Amino acid sequence: MQRIKENIYWTGKVDWELKKFHGHEFTTNRGSTYNSYLLKGEKTILIDTVWQPFARDFVSSLKQQLDLKDIDAIVINHAEIDHSGALPVLMEEIPKTPIYCSKNAVKSIKGHYHQDWNFQVVGTGDRLSLGDRELLFVEAPMLHWPDSMMCYLTKDAVLFSSDAFGQHYAIQRLYNDGVDQDELFQEAIKYYANILTPFSRQVEKKIQEFIGLNLPLDMVCPSHGVIWRRNPLQIIERYREWAADYQEDRVLVFYDTMWNGTGRLAQAIVQGIAEEEDQLQIKVCHAAVTDHTDLVTEVFRSRAVVAGSPTVNRGILSSMAGLLDHLVGLGFKKKKAAAFGTYGWSGESVAILKERLQGAGFSVFDEDVKALWNPDDMTLAKAQDFGRRLARWL
Ligand code: FEO
Repeated sequence: MQRIKENIYWTGKVDWELKKFHGHEFTTNRGSTYNSYLLKGEKTILIDTVWQPFARDFVSSLKQQLDLKDIDAIVINHAEIDHSGALPVLMEEIPKTPIYCSKNAVKSIKGHYHQDWNFQVVGTGDRLSLGDRELLFVEAPMLHWPDSMMCYLTKDAVLFSSDAFGQHYAIQRLYNDGVDQDELFQEAIKYYANILTPFSRQVEKKIQEFIGLNLPLDMVCPSHGVIWRRNPLQIIERYREWAADYQEDRVLVFYDTMWNGTGRLAQAIVQGIAEEEDQLQIKVCHAAVTDHTDLVTEVFRSRAVVAGSPTVNRGILSSMAGLLDHLVGLGFKKKKAAAFGTYGWSGESVAILKERLQGAGFSVFDEDVKALWNPDDMTLAKAQDFGRRLARWL
């Protein structure tokens, strides 16, 4: 337990060892934290818990700091198991304690743990008094689950923002001013790109709603990673930029290849783009050997992507198929795309790539490059020329 403000304590868990999250979907190379907060006053309120494997440690650590019976209420901002995971162990000790959460969170908590605890449903504008201060609830559906909620502590001006503004980033010093800034923003943008991209419209709306409340803001306390203490508005400003269909002057070429024919086409296209457009940053990723969470972050930062695959069994290689499915779900907007690939027999891959990219919301370049077998010098020159024309279209 660490004091972060008078009568506000961090009671979470730093997980230095976590390398994968959401099963094996999301890489967390810098670990993570599960942030839980304890508010003390005339009332004692616990906000969120930790992931299930740390439940017993969490509860025994709380017990060393206070009598659990002194907890007047638990607030669950978001019911996903990394935050509600210690509830079963905690509720064995204090089964009647009210749990304040959204209507959707009740469904989710019941669905996870099959318990009918003392749920108190709250919505935007509801308040919970701590005596001299109040906790103001603000529902935040789809940031990033339908049950998501935030709460704001008056007087202290602290926003407990749940997953929004978080990062998977294990840290010893809890605050944004105590960590490497490059690492922090790399993790923050990776988190936004992979988790919040589909909900960018709701992000902007919620920020506008919060600004409209005209509340002072001293700290933003998310559920993962650093507490934003120094200039907390900076992460809100970043979120506004990211939510506005963010893109930089970058193009990402990503492909998979069997005998490097598609890989050689990729290099020729890159050469053409680089010759035509010297302001554009170009990244090249072999999808089968690149971390897909990082690759999605690259897509997020780019204004265009160029996707390549050979034809295999009348389809495309599985790493590309998986990634394109993922991009459909993320729903990027205002980005451009093109496709290329090799084939030996039937040759469907480029058409499939273009169709999938279009289905994922990209504006797709009419032209493409296909090579029969391994590209010869003439085909590589065509690919290079395609890269130049593509650069002009971008
Ligand atoms: Fe950190 Fe959506 O759970």
